[in-house]
Amino acid sequence: MSPEELRHGPGLKFSIREGLCIERKPAPCGLVLFGASGDLAARKILPSLQGLSSQGLLPADFFVLGLGRKPVDEAELRSRTPGIKNLHYLHGDYDAAETYQALGRKLKELSGKYDTRGNTIFYLALPPALFHAVTHKLGEAGLLDESFGGWSRVVFEKPFGRDLTSARALAAEIRDHLREPQVYRMDHYLGKDTVQNVLMFRFANSIFEPVWKRTYIDHVQISVLEAEGVGHRAGYYDSSGVLRDMFQNHMLQLLALVAMEPPANFAADSVRDEKIKIFQALKPLTPTASSQSIVLGQYAGYRSEPRVSSGSTTPTYAAMRVEIENWRWQGVPFYLRSGKALLKRSAEIAVVFKHVPHSMFRPLNPSNLEANALIFRIQPEEGVSLTIEAKKPGPKTCIGALTMDFDYAEAFGEHPPESYERLLLDVMLGDQTLFPREDALEETWRFIQPLLDAELPLRSYDPGNWGPAEAERLLGDQGRSWRQP
Ligand code: BG6
Repeated sequence: MSPEELRHGPGLKFSIREGLCIERKPAPCGLVLFGASGDLAARKILPSLQGLSSQGLLPADFFVLGLGRKPVDEAELRSRTPGIKNLHYLHGDYDAAETYQALGRKLKELSGKYDTRGNTIFYLALPPALFHAVTHKLGEAGLLDESFGGWSRVVFEKPFGRDLTSARALAAEIRDHLREPQVYRMDHYLGKDTVQNVLMFRFANSIFEPVWKRTYIDHVQISVLEAEGVGHRAGYYDSSGVLRDMFQNHMLQLLALVAMEPPANFAADSVRDEKIKIFQALKPLTPTASSQSIVLGQYAGYRSEPRVSSGSTTPTYAAMRVEIENWRWQGVPFYLRSGKALLKRSAEIAVVFKHVPHSMFRPLNPSNLEANALIFRIQPEEGVSLTIEAKKPGPKTCIGALTMDFDYAEAFGEHPPESYERLLLDVMLGDQTLFPREDALEETWRFIQPLLDAELPLRSYDPGNWGPAEAERLLGDQGRSWRQP
């Protein structure tokens, strides 16, 4: 390794060394894209496949077979996704047996033509109401059967159920047709480079882990704030709300990455085994406890959004104090908040350390000195910051907070890639590390369910703000405050 380049940030000089890469190459395969003419395919999946193709990361023997209800011209589809030459399309009803027979025939033909050895990914970019039926029909048609040599993997998009009961029913249906190693549940937050960086920071360095515990950490804040309202997804969102949409998945996954014990290796089950222990250690939020530990909000004007019911009580914001009942985190609150129509788009994890135990800089008290904080900026200004107290220049004794700032775009000369690229590549590689396992769904729904059942007050907040004022009280009571991104 040699220093690749030196860059100078404002007030900071740092060098980037060439990274050590773990080389992985996917086997030949075909990808069947259900919902190929839909929004998710157009916005995320096809562009990410194109991105992988332009980086030479797709297998040499590869094809995409789009499947949708509407007839689509193959040539037109190819012209929209120029990076993928071997692109085909089939149309049919998702619940008709003929669709799956035609799919079987087409797969046989394409697998021979492109030499993909029967390895197939079925990507269900479909409304969740279709998951049961499509999985069932694929199974019935024998397309998930791996006994002929090739592998079959199925990718599901969230939401995985809308409560504990429906999540269990979906899990049972999936289990009827697939073994867990065939199942890839997307949580696109885990595909973000800046989220994976939490693992690199924690487990590829020796200086953080010794202080990563209740003795030194005061609290953790995880914020995923969005400036946009519900927009064109109002129909789905109104029957879902922020607890199902963000907390059961992304927010709790982020919490697990910060809180879990060091896994023995970067392998799917080692990582997922550690995450599950965190979910199991979450202190349940009972209805009484939850009124003090959770604040729900809805932005003013939400009820007049198209396709939102006029009397909707769907929360578009939630903030909560979560406790993890284990040795490492005893007494360390994790504050989580997420909402729509806020002042600014910003997602970050802030690990806030304790004040110094004693101040030798009299008359300054320990609490006059700003506590250190390590901030993982997930988006949009991706990077990591560490705030430390330092001497300000001059003959007087002045102490002030200094921020050491690593800016992703400045350091690497580019913004992080689309998270779907990484996750699609992992599906091809058969690497489930960044995909929630069935037991994680069970545990996260179990944690969220009492909050869905409880009748909690819904606070109104003005769009373009930081959410309901009551959310401040969650921390304010403890002499802490939310960080302003
Ligand atoms: C999705 C939610 O999973 O994540 C959306 O359904 C949310 O409501 C989105 O806006 C946020 O993702 P990102 O990557 O834009 O932060």
